[in-house]
Amino acid sequence: MKKAILLTGLSFMLVSNSYASEDTAFTEGKKLLQDNCLVCHNAQLDPPQAPPMFAVQMKYKKASSDKESFVNKVTSFATHPSEDKAIIKMAVKKLGVMPDMGFKEEDVRKIASYIYDETFSPPCSHWKSAMKVMKENGDMKHYKKVSKRYSMMCLKKTEDTAKRYGLNAPVASPAEEGTLKSAMQQLGKDYAILNHAILMEDFDTAANAASHIANHEKPSVFQRMKIMAGLGTDMPSFKKADGKVHQLALDIEAAAKSKDMPLLIQHQSNMLKACMACHRSYRTKVIDFLK
Ligand code: HEC
Ligand code: HEC
Repeated sequence: MKKAILLTGLSFMLVSNSYASEDTAFTEGKKLLQDNCLVCHNAQLDPPQAPPMFAVQMKYKKASSDKESFVNKVTSFATHPSEDKAIIKMAVKKLGVMPDMGFKEEDVRKIASYIYDETFSPPCSHWKSAMKVMKENGDMKHYKKVSKRYSMMCLKKTEDTAKRYGLNAPVASPAEEGTLKSAMQQLGKDYAILNHAILMEDFDTAANAASHIANHEKPSVFQRMKIMAGLGTDMPSFKKADGKVHQLALDIEAAAKSKDMPLLIQHQSNMLKACMACHRSYRTKVIDFLK
């Protein structure tokens, strides 16, 4: 009896001890990272000085089979950075290889282990400014990738907000996925949310809905080709109509963020005009040739 109690007591001590040391290592790694790495690896910096740790973790986890290989790779790079070891090629291209700052291997190992274990929040503002630059440079391939990640991880889900507002607009069936119609139904939902948010003076939801409209889902390549073929020489003005809505959505987002209600209302009514200008010229026609 006595022995049993002793054993339970002992194993309890062992367990709590190992938790304690894991905890200390985590805290120590975090502190070392803050002191040595965050001057550059800070996701809030604009323009960025280094990739956010969210991205470093993601890329290195993809390239590693387990924690040990992750820690080895990060440590090897950060103690002696070189272009051939670097796997975030885009960052090297933009910022040059990370300078060798003579970090102690022992410290970097602790940092790397912490990076592996931490749950970093998505670097939303970093992605947003990166998207802007990519767009300006016409780098649509990376733009699409980042903007997808941004809407997935940084925007509140339309469905959740729609439910909260009791809006039950039609949803595309799986067969309609990637069609212009399903993209438009989503726009209709986001538009309804935007209107309702304005009525409630809920600026955050309004900004979020406008951002959804600005980053709306694009029809599949196949669907876009059909639209191009069907519209022929009308394509440029169709595109222009889409661009107008896009710009107004960005204006609405900015007005909502600065809580400027008169401006918000002005842009929002202009957006309805812009949606309707395209519908009145093209909706029936497009429905006809997409049949
Ligand atoms: C003076 C600024 C600066 C500091 C301080 C800094 N880094 Fe970096 N780091 C960079 C830059 C710039 C890049 C992007 C270019 C590259 O990948 O080499 C980078 C990239 C990285 C990468 C990804 C490399 C790749 O492309 O695969 C890792 C891992 C990394 N840093 C780890 C660290 C760690 C750990 C620390 C702290 C011990 C640290 N860095 C401190 C500037 C810095
Ligand atoms: C560039 C032209 C264009 C613009 C701009 C545009 N639409 Fe559309 N919209 C269409 C076309 C074409 C259809 C018909 C698609 C179909 O049914 O295949 C459509 C259909 C719709 C539908 C009906 C979907 C269904 O279930 O049948 C809604 C809702 C909608 N749009 C909302 C909007 C909103 C909201 C805006 C502005 C924020 C907007 N649209 C801006 C071209 C446009």
